[in-house]
Amino acid sequence: MTHMHIAGSIHADVAQGGPHWLTMPSDPMALQHRLWPEGTVRDREGRITVGGLPLTEVARQQGTPVYVIDEADFRSRARAFRDSFTGWHVYYAGKALLTRSIARWVAEEGLGLDVTTMGEMHIALAGGMPAERLGFHGNNKSLDEIRFALGQGVGRVIVDSFNEIDRIERACTELGAVARVLVRVTTGVEAHTHEYIATAHEDQKFGLSILGGHALAALVRCQSSPHMELRGIHSHIGSQIFETHGFEVAIRRTLRLAEQFRAATGVELAELDLGGGFGIAYTEADSPKTTAELAQAFEEILDHECRGFQMARPQLSIEPGRAICGPSGVALYEVGTVKVVELENGRSRTYVSVDGGMSDNIRPALYAAEYSCALANRSSDAEPVLSRVVGKHCEGGDILIRDVFLPRDIAPGDLIAVPGAGAYCRSMASNYNQLPKPPLVAVAEGAVRTLLRRETLDDMMRLDVGE
Ligand code: LLP
Repeated sequence: MTHMHIAGSIHADVAQGGPHWLTMPSDPMALQHRLWPEGTVRDREGRITVGGLPLTEVARQQGTPVYVIDEADFRSRARAFRDSFTGWHVYYAGKALLTRSIARWVAEEGLGLDVTTMGEMHIALAGGMPAERLGFHGNNKSLDEIRFALGQGVGRVIVDSFNEIDRIERACTELGAVARVLVRVTTGVEAHTHEYIATAHEDQKFGLSILGGHALAALVRCQSSPHMELRGIHSHIGSQIFETHGFEVAIRRTLRLAEQFRAATGVELAELDLGGGFGIAYTEADSPKTTAELAQAFEEILDHECRGFQMARPQLSIEPGRAICGPSGVALYEVGTVKVVELENGRSRTYVSVDGGMSDNIRPALYAAEYSCALANRSSDAEPVLSRVVGKHCEGGDILIRDVFLPRDIAPGDLIAVPGAGAYCRSMASNYNQLPKPPLVAVAEGAVRTLLRRETLDDMMRLDVGE
């Protein structure tokens, strides 16, 4: 997913045909269906239609930029995890995208929800997610957050440090509560993803290391605490992962830890959570497994490993975020300027500037993440030219889509739709350059509903309380 150049990825020379994985489309108006919400089509006028509604209509009602989430698609991806991973507990990772409505959809589809902060807990509870179906994560949970979580009766706390164990014991003493806990461990697995989103190698801030003996010590301490009910082990190896091999190694290492714990205490741990991280298709280069294929691969690995350790299968859980909300979301922008920039050797590059950018999607700038896009408001039979879609921020690195073929006649006023924008776009949005955050709307059965309204200049002025 990352394509770096020694002088920085944005300075990389791009051949006229773009990167090796990008093919010149034979029909530039054709949509690659696996990138878009199920049922996305071009209507007879050539407009992209999501959830039964032309995106031109969403833009007319809501303005641009706007994030559009297809409710039926989101729900069906949530259901696919629940149904394919039979007998498992599935927690949707709220950090990927969370509003009250989304928490309600997740609750209605029978999933639990992962939260990481006071803010995420508030939204989840306000959306009607029962507290006992919440898992509380984080490498630096505050005493206030722990008190609040336990006071609400959250189902489980994923313990991340010895300091946190102290805080949980203190909060439990105050509240007369017992915390149900899993211990997050680092398995040493190097997930094949961007360094900033790989989380289980040893030299990083999350979890307790198996290698150093910290994980076993934390398990023993939680087991012996009168304030905690130790349920098991948690492992999350990273994000946007396509292969199951890293999970296989993590399973083996966590089960070996469970075996060591059993040898030390005589207690068999009841639960194993394997975290999230299942990759999605952002461009034609990505081919993720289906949820059913993923479930089958996990089942086979677990059967094999549990047999090897002569261990009963624990209660299993996973925490998909991106794989549920990512493909359900589309970001819609309006083109403002089109500029052809001459490069060396007689080459040129078409820069298409849109009315958003790195404030509503930081992922390309932060991880060199690749996206794709399509002309959304009309069809065109103009020749496709290699283009770069950029935002309106004062940064050279404000690139949304490094390389994509767009029709040569693209012009100000056209709409561009970016698939795969449901995950980690709105949730990581900022107000850089004082841009108000775009709204998030749900489309379902041809109707549009606002989940998060557009921020206004008034909202921003209200925060600016100085003279
Ligand atoms: N569980 C835990 C403990 C996590 O830390 C995460 C993500 C997930 C589950 C969900 O992972 P997912 O299935 O969504 O990949 N901002 C980055 C991703 C960082 C993810 C952090 N933790 C991005 O935009 O790619």
